[in-house]
Amino acid sequence: MNVHRWFACATAMSAAVFGLTVGLIVQDPIVAAAGAPARVKTQAAAVPGPGVQGAVAPGDYVGEATCLGCHDTQSYQGTKHAVAFNERTPAATHGCESCHGPGRAHADSGDPALIRNFKTMTPQQGSAICATCHNRGAHALWDGSQHDQRNVGCATCHSIHSPQGPSQLKASTEMALCATCHRPVVNRQHRFSHMPVREGNMTCSSCHNPHGSTNVRLLKAGTTIDESCTSCHTDKRGPYLWEHAPVSESCITCHEPHGSNNPRMLVSKTPFLCQRCHVTSRHPPTVYDGYLLQNSPNGNKIYARSCVICHQQIHGSNSPSGKALLR
Ligand code: HEC
Ligand code: HEC
Ligand code: HEC
Ligand code: HEC
Ligand code: HEC
Ligand code: HEC
Ligand code: HEC
Ligand code: HEC
Ligand code: HEC
Ligand code: HEC
Repeated sequence: MNVHRWFACATAMSAAVFGLTVGLIVQDPIVAAAGAPARVKTQAAAVPGPGVQGAVAPGDYVGEATCLGCHDTQSYQGTKHAVAFNERTPAATHGCESCHGPGRAHADSGDPALIRNFKTMTPQQGSAICATCHNRGAHALWDGSQHDQRNVGCATCHSIHSPQGPSQLKASTEMALCATCHRPVVNRQHRFSHMPVREGNMTCSSCHNPHGSTNVRLLKAGTTIDESCTSCHTDKRGPYLWEHAPVSESCITCHEPHGSNNPRMLVSKTPFLCQRCHVTSRHPPTVYDGYLLQNSPNGNKIYARSCVICHQQIHGSNSPSGKALLR
């Protein structure tokens, strides 16, 4: 846990520092998108790429109307980018050319090699263009995040010209989008015991920030798995008078966050769950001690909710006499 905490912290710090450096360099959206990955933008400035011939003169922009003259199907009308009232949107700045770069050379010739094309650049190059505007808040930790590292770019999940779902996603729902790559995780939502994700009351991004985070596993809240869970399940946060060691350690020791076929999303059924750790105790904790179920004093260890019939305060107790987590 401490190692995790340190790691998450170190990653966050380096990401923040790194993000800051990059942020400063990408102030000029044009430089940012020159033909090199986000991380070597300093060199990119010197390398002429489509739409970039050294410094950009205002006259290099032709304006949206000209682009639409030939590309009338590539609109972004109806999306938040088209809200000209918001002075930070493409519509309020250079229109198409906010993302595709100054397009005079291309517009004059119609030569597709003279315009930035997201399909021919690397995901990192494409993301760097989006990050000229989206570099704060929930997006500040994008650089070097798990998705960025593995060539998943902004345009892998979002569509500018033909969005299918909320937040301009490429799929109709978030779950459908994530399922294109994380099928096994999404499938677990269909187990009988699960949080209300498949019912639509929660989504993957209730817990994860796909844009990067300070926590492990792209978890949105806190710096440990426990902090993530207790951001909603505040009653389980403690501190307790009598703590149960594995609960302070990590909720996922006992729970499968994406769904399970045991009650309460437990990773294993009781009493077996408990017996992973408690093999001996003052009262026999294993069911095998009471192999004669009928009339056995140990039948109660496997009946119904088993151990937690008595050890109700399994997450910790605040009762002075709650040492055995009974009350
Ligand atoms: C005179 C007509 C004309 C104008 C004006 C024009 N384009 Fe193009 N554009 C073309 C042609 C022709 C192609 C090549 C299409 C093809 O290969 O299918 C092209 C290709 C592109 C591509 C690459 C698409 C691909 O699939 O390869 C992008 C991106 C693009 N244009 C954006 C723009 C932007 C942004 C503007 C405004 C700055 C603009 N165009 C203005 C004619 C034009
Ligand atoms: C917010 C950034 C952004 C703005 C603004 C924008 N585009 Fe695009 N454009 C993209 C991205 C990203 C793609 C890659 C397509 C994808 O992956 O969905 C793209 C793709 C294209 C293509 C190639 C489409 C194809 O099917 O191959 C053309 C042409 C194009 N845009 C023209 C335009 C025109 C014209 C405008 C202005 C009306 C415009 N774009 C405004 C980001 C933008
Ligand atoms: C010129 C600045 C600029 C650029 C470049 C830009 N965006 Fe945006 N984008 C905005 C602004 C401003 C908003 C509206 C934010 C708001 O309402 O909070 C926005 C909104 C969005 C939204 C939210 C849509 C919704 O319905 O909630 C998504 C997704 C998005 N942008 C993705 C992208 C992607 C992907 C790229 C790169 C291909 C990109 N943006 C490039 C300025 C930009
Ligand atoms: C793995 C898929 C994925 C990738 C990659 C991704 N996004 Fe998102 N994005 C989402 C999902 C899902 C949502 C809706 C849930 C949320 O708000 O977190 C979203 C929401 C957004 C929003 C609207 C909400 C907000 O935070 O303002 C913006 C803007 C946005 N993304 C921009 C970007 C940009 C820019 C990039 C690249 C740097 C990017 N996204 C990369 C999946 C993705
Ligand atoms: C285009 C494929 C793709 C899509 C779509 C996608 N991911 Fe990922 N995701 C990846 C890859 C690749 C990794 C890196 C896996 C690794 O390092 O083992 C990753 C990593 C992750 C991780 C971190 C895993 C870890 O070990 O730290 C989480 C959490 C995650 N994705 C959640 C999501 C969510 C939520 C969505 C939907 C909003 C989503 N992803 C959509 C490809 C994708
Ligand atoms: C209740 C919070 C929560 C929700 C909702 C949630 N996750 Fe997770 N997810 C976690 C936690 C906690 C972990 C870390 C588990 C671990 O390390 O074993 C995780 C791990 C992951 C991982 C990486 C580890 C693995 O098992 O491959 C991926 C990918 C992932 N989640 C994707 C998703 C997707 C896709 C969704 C939506 C269908 C989703 N998550 C919904 C909490 C959640
Ligand atoms: C974004 C808020 C949120 C987060 C974060 C969250 N949960 Fe939940 N959880 C819920 C909701 C909502 C329910 C459904 C409550 C209900 O049905 O009364 C739930 C239900 C549960 C249940 C009971 C399931 C059942 O069968 O009754 C368990 C166990 C659980 N969560 C464990 C966890 C664990 C472990 C984590 C951390 C990995 C976590 N939760 C993170 C919102 C959250
Ligand atoms: C030692 C194993 C263990 C650990 C660790 C654990 N739980 Fe549980 N949890 C259980 C058991 C067993 C139940 C079922 C209790 C019952 O049936 O009465 C349960 C039930 C729940 C429930 C649903 C019933 C209720 O009390 O609300 C939630 C929510 C929950 N746990 C959240 C968490 C969170 C959050 C954490 C991490 C802080 C966590 N659990 C850690 C064993 C554990
Ligand atoms: C991952 C290992 C692990 C799991 C699983 C686990 N426990 Fe524990 N439990 C511990 C540890 C470690 C302690 C602290 C022991 C100590 O302080 O001597 C503890 C303490 C206890 C105590 C208090 C003992 C005392 O005298 O202080 C009870 C009662 C208990 N556990 C019951 C359960 C039950 C019931 C389950 C199943 C729902 C369970 N535990 C699951 C590791 C675990
Ligand atoms: C019928 C009620 C009952 C059931 C069922 C029960 N316990 Fe207990 N358990 C107790 C009581 C009462 C104590 C306190 C004994 C004492 O303090 O002398 C206790 C104490 C404990 C302790 C701490 C004391 C020690 O000697 O280590 C552990 C660990 C424990 N139980 C685990 C379990 C496990 C695991 C199960 C399920 C297989 C279980 N219990 C089922 C009533 C029960």
